[in-house]
Amino acid sequence: EKGPYPFYMLKEINEQPTVMRRLAQTYLDEKGQPQIAPELLAALKQADRLYILAAGTSYHAGLVAKSMFEKLAQLPTEVSLASEFGYNTPLLAKKPFFLFLSQSGETADSRQVLVKVKQWGYPSLTMTNVPGSTLSREATYTLLLKAGPEIAVASTKAYTAQIALQAILAKALGETRQLVTAQKFDIRKQLGLVANGMQTLIDEHHRFDQLAKTYLGTTSNAFYIGRGYDYPVSLEAALKLKEISYVQAEGFAGAELKHGTISLIEKGTPVIAIITDKRVASHTRSNVQEVRARGAHVLTIAMHAVAQQSDQVVLADVNPLLSALLSVVPAQLLAYYTSLNRGYDVDKPRNLAKAVTVE
Ligand code: M6R
Repeated sequence: EKGPYPFYMLKEINEQPTVMRRLAQTYLDEKGQPQIAPELLAALKQADRLYILAAGTSYHAGLVAKSMFEKLAQLPTEVSLASEFGYNTPLLAKKPFFLFLSQSGETADSRQVLVKVKQWGYPSLTMTNVPGSTLSREATYTLLLKAGPEIAVASTKAYTAQIALQAILAKALGETRQLVTAQKFDIRKQLGLVANGMQTLIDEHHRFDQLAKTYLGTTSNAFYIGRGYDYPVSLEAALKLKEISYVQAEGFAGAELKHGTISLIEKGTPVIAIITDKRVASHTRSNVQEVRARGAHVLTIAMHAVAQQSDQVVLADVNPLLSALLSVVPAQLLAYYTSLNRGYDVDKPRNLAKAVTVE
């Protein structure tokens, strides 16, 4: 039930710190070591390439996780929209392993690929929030997100759960391969930092109401920009905003501004910059200058380690591989309040269904 919340979406945003802690309790032992089924790890260990397939927000969670599998487990990873992968299947590696991300476990786009994967005889894993769902029944292995029912059409806690659980899986695989980067990655501590950092943002949720009014109040378009680890988050942030507030929003890689998009910037265009990745923070700051010079109304969301005094939103410091878990929360809240302030039904945006069971 919604309890004191006007909409499920706000309730589900607020549950995210609990979901992070629950995942740590479920999938880590008392020493903080991952507890993942040995058969699943053995199958993954044999793979020479991981294919992550999903749609919408789950696809965005896959984009974030690519770096984790490659950095913590040295497993080359390709992330694709399940639909397009099905229509135009790439030349596969010798030993592929398929990971299907799906909150509902019912997405038709993903299912059409899983049917083929089974015919080809390759191993697969479904990460889902719904036990017994179609994709979980049909895949070789299942890992549950344990996020609790997600009722709002806009996915929030399932996205962060997918990222956190993939981090645990990547760490587990890296450990079985005895990789130092994985051994040094203290996932239990990091998920604790993430949960606390999320809570700080949630406690300030009224500030995001104000920021939404100031930056997105009456606009019909908006941009999210980010580079490196912040790029996939900008895609998810834009999807959240368009899905429930009907603002035409675009997320893109900062470097791409000069390759076309900057022509759209005019006086008052909202641009929200996500700046957590130290390797490229100064480049994103240059983008901020460029769009400001053309009249954009810029809001910056930065991680403490790279923050400046002028940043409106400052995120707690966490391992860069997990920064998406924090930077997405302001975007979720901005989308929520923009929709609420425009008088829309936040939980049931027009034309959309929670589970998309037709291609
Ligand atoms: O249940 P799934 O994760 O497979 O759903 C995929 C998309 O339909 C879903 O993430 C959709 O994009 C959300 N409504 C976005 O908030």
